[in-house]
Amino acid sequence: MRMFGSVVTICCSLAVSNVWANDLKDYGEYLAGECTTCHRIDGAQSEIPSIVGWDAEALTAVLKSYKSGELDNPAMVSVAKSLDDEQIKALAAYFSSLEPKN
Ligand code: HEC
Repeated sequence: MRMFGSVVTICCSLAVSNVWANDLKDYGEYLAGECTTCHRIDGAQSEIPSIVGWDAEALTAVLKSYKSGELDNPAMVSVAKSLDDEQIKALAAYFSSLEPKN
């Protein structure tokens, strides 16, 4: 009976961490609505660069640079300033999970 109890614990803590990762991505997908009015979600490059499939760390670093004003494109600075660290993390999790389609 004790054995059975510990198997259940292991199984359920794995499931919980998976749900957490998916939640972050879902939150990112929700927030991405604000980005995809400019950045195309299919990964096609226009005059606005594609951000689909970017490495999560690179995307986080670039958004933080816009937020701090190190990068100074006015559109992106105002977008990045409205995001907190958790939202940036969620967006990075979401965009890095997508495959560019072209
Ligand atoms: C109003 C239009 C607009 C919106 C909304 C917008 N962006 Fe941008 N974004 C741009 C433009 C224009 C550039 C290119 C800036 C430049 O060339 O310096 C850019 C650049 C970027 C870059 C750097 C791309 C590169 O190749 O250097 C990233 C990353 C990025 N945006 C992420 C986002 C995210 C994430 C969101 C949503 C939270 C978002 N953007 C919302 C217009 C927008």
